[in-house]
Parts: sequence; C-alpha cells; structure tokens
Amino acid sequence: MDAIRIRGGKRLSGKIHVSGAKNAALPILCATLLSEGESLLRNVPALRDIDTTAALLRFLGRKVDCAPPLVRISGGAQSRPEAPYELVKQMRASVMVLGPLLARHGRAKVSLPGGCQIGARPVDQHLKGLEAMGATIRLERGYIVAECKRLRGSEVVFDLPTVTGTENLMMAAALAKGRTTLVNCAREPEVEELGRVLNKMGARVSGAGTDVIHIEGADELEPFDHAIISDRIEAGTYMVAAAAAGGDVLLEGAPLEDLEAVSARLRQAGVEVGREGDCVRIRRDPDRPLRAIDVTTAPHPGFPTDMQAQFMVLMCLAQGTSRIVETIFENRFMHVPELVRMGAHIDVDGHTAHVHGGHALSGAIVMATDLRASASLVIAGLVASEETDVLRVYHLDRGYEHMERKLAQLGADTTRIQSDM
Ligand code: EPZ
Repeated sequence: MDAIRIRGGKRLSGKIHVSGAKNAALPILCATLLSEGESLLRNVPALRDIDTTAALLRFLGRKVDCAPPLVRISGGAQSRPEAPYELVKQMRASVMVLGPLLARHGRAKVSLPGGCQIGARPVDQHLKGLEAMGATIRLERGYIVAECKRLRGSEVVFDLPTVTGTENLMMAAALAKGRTTLVNCAREPEVEELGRVLNKMGARVSGAGTDVIHIEGADELEPFDHAIISDRIEAGTYMVAAAAAGGDVLLEGAPLEDLEAVSARLRQAGVEVGREGDCVRIRRDPDRPLRAIDVTTAPHPGFPTDMQAQFMVLMCLAQGTSRIVETIFENRFMHVPELVRMGAHIDVDGHTAHVHGGHALSGAIVMATDLRASASLVIAGLVASEETDVLRVYHLDRGYEHMERKLAQLGADTTRIQSDM
C-alpha cells in the first residue's frame, strides 16, 4: 500500500491551485439520478470518493465518463434503484442516492451505510424526512427499502443540522408534488451549491445555505452543465500546513469567504491571512511564536469539524495550552495517539483535547483511519525532525488530490513510497 514519506523542517513557499470541492461534487453527482440525458460536471477533483460514486452510478444504470476535472453522466431510462452494501460501505455519502432514486422511480433499496471510524453516523434524519414526504420506509437485512408512488411536498424540521440529510431531502423534494420546506438545515456552502444545480435542472429552490430551504418540486428535471466550487477544507488544510511549517504561500482559488472561522483562528494564533487577487496568502515567520487558542467545532459557519485534526497540529507548536472541543462526531480524536507518538503532549477527556504546546515533534511511522486525521499527520511530518512515513494514504486519497505533489510544489520534501504495512 502507498505511504507518504516526509522529511520535515522545510519552510513552504510558492503557489498551488485549490481543487474542486469533494463535498459539493458528491451530492451533485447523485443529483444526476433525477433526470435523463447528459449532464456535465466540471472542476471535479481526482479523488477516490469520486471514483466510488462513479462506480455506484454505473451500477445504477448510468453511463459515466469520469475524467477529472470533467465528468460526463448520461442515460437514465432504465435505472435499477438499488445501491449495494459493498459500494455504500466504501463511502457513507452513497446514502445520497436514496432521495433521488425514490423521487424518480417511486422506490429505492439502499444499504444502510453503517458506522465509520469517526462515529455511528446514523441516517435517521434522512429517513424521517422522507417519511414526512409520504414514503414508507422499512429496514430489511441491513438495507433501507423505501417506496412512494409520488413524494408530496411537506414541512420537515431536522432535529439537528445534517449536511447530507439536508442534501438528500432537497433532491427528493425537487421531484415531489408541491412545495417542501426544510427547517433547521445545514448551512454549508456545499448545500448552497447543490441548490444552484437543482435550480439549473428546473426545480425552484430558495434559501439553500440558510437554515430554512423552500423547494417547489417539478414533474421532470433537466440535465445540467456545472462547474463546482473550490474545496474550502482542502484550502484550509494547506493554510494550516503553511502556518505550521512557516513560510509564504499563495492558494489559488481558495474560497476565503467560506473560511471565516478558520481564518479568524489562524490570525488569533499569530498567522497572517490575506487575499491577493484570486489567491489567499498565508505568511508566518517560523521563528515567531504561535499563540495557543481554544477551538470548538460547530456546524457552518462555525469552526469545521473537518479542520479540527489539522488545527490541533498547529496548536502543538504554540506557546501554552489549547483546548479543542469536538462537538459534531463522537470519535474524532484518532490522530491524537499518533501525534503523541511523534512527541506531542495532548490529554483527551471525552470530547475535549488539551494540547500542551511547545514540545518539538520528531518523525515516526504513523497511520490514521480518518481522511482528515491522515492530513494532520502529514502536517505534523512537515514540522517534525527527521523522517515521517504516513501509512495507508488511501484514506488521504479519498479527499486530497495528490497531496504529496502539491506540498512538494511548495518546497516540502514529500514523496509517495510503497509500504508493506
Ligand atoms: C458531512 O457528513 C460531510 N460529508 C463530512 O465530511 C462532514 O464532517 C460532516 O458533514 C459534518 O460537517 C459530506 O458532505 C459528503 P452530518 P454527514 O449528517 O452529512 C448526526 C469529510 O471529511 N446525524 O452533518 O454525514 C451525525 O451523527 C467528511 O469530507 C444524526 O444524528 O454529517 C453527526 O453527529 C467527514 N442523524 C451530526 O449529525 C442523521 O440522520 C452531523 O452529521 C444524520 C446525522
């Protein structure tokens, strides 16, 4: 299996391009199930999760030409509305085919995604919403079996903001009869982006990106041609990497407007964050001490849970103790034991990690099982003395396009190697 070898201690400088947003591409690819004809998706990142979704769409009867940054999807007359366990278990976001398949074909059989390393990840909100729209849902041998001749517009109040739950129901409502109001929605930019695409397809969506979304369903939807937004979490990851390693980096296409919480925390820690043309510029003198600050993750526009592991590495370098609280997922500190093996001083108490900064990190062989935890270990390798091997980078390849190449472009000593571990 592939690993990434990092020789730490190099400052970063130069410019890299931020790729298209994984968490925008995934729901939009599922939205192609709502119409026939050929849809074009542009600025798609070359990631494992995109390949997994392409495989799922092919299984569902679509013709998919997946050549990132362009993905072409066509067909759709005969769809087999079933998503099997072996595909869904690879990527939980596959549950987002449920809404479109049910809305378009009147029935759907989708494997329950099951839990993952960061938590139980239930989908009860997705199912409650579809039932409110008239679906009958039953669980059969690990599968969700949903049926409804025609979904009807209704009011759905989420018990808590769920990103893919909001997106699943937006797509279902786009072909429902009448008007649907979704309340207590996730406000992530990727939700807003899906609203733009559904409007291109002929639905009438308003309020996407706020906590109340109205959708006027259509009888039929059209294919679309759309270039997706840049990936704010990829951009945030490289912002933290530049802050940790020190240097002067330009991130082309970084959506600074969607990274307010991350930028604010970086500035509080003593990092310079600014806009330069269509780039974000990150500058930090590695000889200038970083301030330890507290962070609590929250739904957008709060500090993203997907940036928690990366930011923790930066706090390992700061003067003082930082308190990091993870409020979204129940088990998202798996990077901690690996960082401790590299010399970090971190105490975990339930959902709170106390990071005692100011201790030098040293290279090690490390491994994570969560996409963002893997990214944090690469960042730790950038600042650690000697050599760090981050194993099982297939986790990283799910959400980061050629991370070792982009870092090497900025002057890091990072290479992809084969490992038998
Ligand atoms: C999306 O996952 C993202 N994935 C995740 O990014 C991200 O971490 C997460 O939102 C939170 O921001 C995609 O967009 C493909 P949720 P999602 O439903 O939708 C609970 C990455 O690294 N919940 O917003 O699955 C849930 O347990 C990935 O790119 C229910 O209780 O997350 C969690 O505690 C990781 N019932 C909270 O809500 C439900 O029916 C938020 O989860 C649904 C969710």
